[in-house]
Amino acid sequence: MLKVGLIGCGFMGTMHANCYKSIEGVELVALADLRKECAQKLAEGTNAALYGDGKDLINNADVDIIDICLPTYLHSEYAIAAMDKVKYVFVEKPVALTKEQGEAMIKKAQETGANVQVGQVIRFWDEYVELAKIIKAGTYGKVLNANFRRISPIPTWGWENWLLKNELSGGAAQDLHIHDVDYVLSQFGAPKVVKSVKNKMGEKSSYINSLFEYDDFVVSVEGTWALPGTHPFEATFRVVFENGVVENAGGKFMLYTDSEAKEIVIEKKEGLGEGFEGGNISDLGGYYNELVYFTDCVKNKKAVEKATVKDGVESLAFVLEEIKNA
Ligand SMILES: NC(=O)c1ccc[n+]([C@@H]2O[C@H](COP(=O)([O-])OP(=O)(O)OC[C@H]3O[C@@H](n4cnc5c(N)ncnc54)[C@H](O)[C@@H]3O)[C@@H](O)[C@H]2O)c1
Repeated sequence: MLKVGLIGCGFMGTMHANCYKSIEGVELVALADLRKECAQKLAEGTNAALYGDGKDLINNADVDIIDICLPTYLHSEYAIAAMDKVKYVFVEKPVALTKEQGEAMIKKAQETGANVQVGQVIRFWDEYVELAKIIKAGTYGKVLNANFRRISPIPTWGWENWLLKNELSGGAAQDLHIHDVDYVLSQFGAPKVVKSVKNKMGEKSSYINSLFEYDDFVVSVEGTWALPGTHPFEATFRVVFENGVVENAGGKFMLYTDSEAKEIVIEKKEGLGEGFEGGNISDLGGYYNELVYFTDCVKNKKAVEKATVKDGVESLAFVLEEIKNA
């Protein structure tokens, strides 16, 4: 059994705990949260030892994996401490608050030989994985144009409202838009030209709209969490190829060609997502997939090669430049 220690039992820690409980050969043995009641809740159905501060878990728990679901400004400090303890560390995205913190994490991983995976979950999200296969295979010809969009109500669930404090989270661009940026970079590499427009919408939230220019095509990427609470969370894309359009929007994943419009069917995993119907995300599939990949690396003593700490820092550095130049 792989022994997992999970630090941070809020929104994302709960997602991860649900996933670990569903993965074979993996046991949640330690949980840490300053809010003991949050750790206690996730411990239901496990024999996990409970800790307050994440450092207590790092120093005292007997674990193979440490998974860090702390607010972004704490990622670097706790991940670096975790790398001294175990060889496999998972840290949520964005990898860190600053590029320097991210680079310190890369350095520590090199020194210790620790494998670090970053929660750039879109690389593991079924529809986006399928799109990546279509792009790679060139099934419908070259990409002519693409659009990725991620829009959300104001996230008010964070512990002590840390998400809405830009100096702690980086705001919507760094926290939310980075998902699509990371995916676009993973598919198309760095664009030749980047143009970004950022509107501050009061102190609470922000909006970013960017154009990434490549040699033969343009990708537009839009992100905001400035919407009213009644607006649903939406993550959509449309990629126009020479011979077809692949679109994921309005709950439908579609292929459009001159001769047909057909749904691209992806088999959904059952039994996940319970208790999250009221949240933004009704499908735990991507989180499950990324943690299955991560735990498989540990089980097979393999290096983490997807969503590495280096990938995470590249995406962070890219978004920080967008913000600076917007
Ligand atoms: N991959 C995704 O789609 C996704 C979605 C949401 C959030 N996230 C990321 O996950 C991370 C956590 O976000 P969240 O929404 O779960 O936040 P949250 O506020 O819901 O949870 C954070 C938890 O950390 C605890 N905590 C704070 N300091 C601690 C410490 N020193 N030791 C132990 N516990 C401590 C808090 O009590 C809280 O329960 C962030 O980096 C966020 O950007 C990723």
